[in-house]
Amino acid sequence: MGRCPECGEWNTLVEETAGPPPDAGPRPALLPETGEEGVRTLGEVQPGSAPRLATGLDEVDRVLGGGLVPGSVVLLAGEPGVGKSTLALQLAAAVLRRHGPALYVCGEESPEQIRLRAERLPDLPKDLLLLAETSVERIAGPWRERRPGLVLVDSVQTVHCGRVESAPGSVAQVRESAALLAAAARSAGSALVLIGHVTKEGSIAGPRVLEHLVDVVLTLEGDRAHPFRMLRAAKNRFGSTAEVGVFQMGGAGLEAVANPSELFLAERRPGAPGSTIAPLVEGTRTLLVEIQALLAPTGYGTARRTAIGVDDARVALLLAVLDRRARVDLLSCDLYVNATGGVRISEPAADLAIALAIVSSRLDLAVPPDVAACGEVGLGGEVRRVGRLDLRLAEAARLGFHRVLVPETVASEAAAPRGVVPIPVGDVADAVAWLREHGLPAG
Ligand code: TYD
Ligand code: MG
Repeated sequence: MGRCPECGEWNTLVEETAGPPPDAGPRPALLPETGEEGVRTLGEVQPGSAPRLATGLDEVDRVLGGGLVPGSVVLLAGEPGVGKSTLALQLAAAVLRRHGPALYVCGEESPEQIRLRAERLPDLPKDLLLLAETSVERIAGPWRERRPGLVLVDSVQTVHCGRVESAPGSVAQVRESAALLAAAARSAGSALVLIGHVTKEGSIAGPRVLEHLVDVVLTLEGDRAHPFRMLRAAKNRFGSTAEVGVFQMGGAGLEAVANPSELFLAERRPGAPGSTIAPLVEGTRTLLVEIQALLAPTGYGTARRTAIGVDDARVALLLAVLDRRARVDLLSCDLYVNATGGVRISEPAADLAIALAIVSSRLDLAVPPDVAACGEVGLGGEVRRVGRLDLRLAEAARLGFHRVLVPETVASEAAAPRGVVPIPVGDVADAVAWLREHGLPAG
């Protein structure tokens, strides 16, 4: 079949050989005998806490919820080239330093290539165990002998097991190999990290098919043209999924970024129209991110809308709201919106800043350089409450912002830190009126 009846794409179907049919004998009864063993009441179960292998890489430990859990499986997913192998190597080196043997199974690269990459790291993890192997069965031997506390498999798309006939990287193969490795990790008590590629098209069996069988799914995000990388937990059986780790890809691998806001704002041109700063909260971290907008008259045909780092649907919604509720004529313009630094914004609290950036470009009035804005915008034009306003104001204050446009409804709830004045806005029309009064003319 050339075309997928599900998604409508061409040539995305991959052939797979089905396994042998299950034994067709009489079906065994599910409830053969009585027997109570194995059943306990919830009250009888002791709330044991999982022991942790703290890796010593603070950004990673925080996202994991304190470190790797022995016997658990972590899936580290990301687009090719984002830095998964680099992070894996650093993780292995860190565990090796603190807790003893770590085994790196390289199915994608040769040990020589791994060595080259390791040369760039601050200190070479000389005792890291490398195994160039793609057969799951043959990984078992060294795993049993060397008793590593951590096993990394780079990548799960290259390994295969004899039980399934389909090619490495196919859904059946990836799933079966990962299940075997996960079972081995549980019985050996090693932490297992599986590295998986996600492609933009998602055509190859990706990490999605593994999500249910692993304990933690970490995604490493970032734009290859920018040095920033964010590590998030999409699923975490042992901790929160709200934390992010921020890294910078440099000459010596991934370096933790303690103050991301400063980096994100480093190249800002204060006083330029079409730019607004938004204080965003990711887990317990606050990031100040610059949002830029540029409007240009539409040449012919329909207007173009391009958003980078911001959801297209969000931008379309804000345009409609600004047009209808604040009477700013935008619909005849091409619009480009960009979250600088390659950040991907998912928080609705950025709405007000996006809206202000758009209006600022349209009116050619710059948002004053000491002003930031946060608030979710509703379809009625109302600016809705955001969580953790205290954290947002504190981060803004730390980086020298003196005024922050905030939702009217929460303005009085947070005690503003010294040096910051919250400016309450009830709806987008208020924000636009504020900009008309306080904005700085360009030039
Ligand atoms: P890599 O970890 O191989 O990505 P993945 O395994 O996700 O495909 O590395 C990605 C890029 O990072 C690669 O283009 C080279 C770059 N890099 C650095 O900039 N600095 C470094 O110290 C290292 C090791 C890699
Ligand atoms: Mg790699």
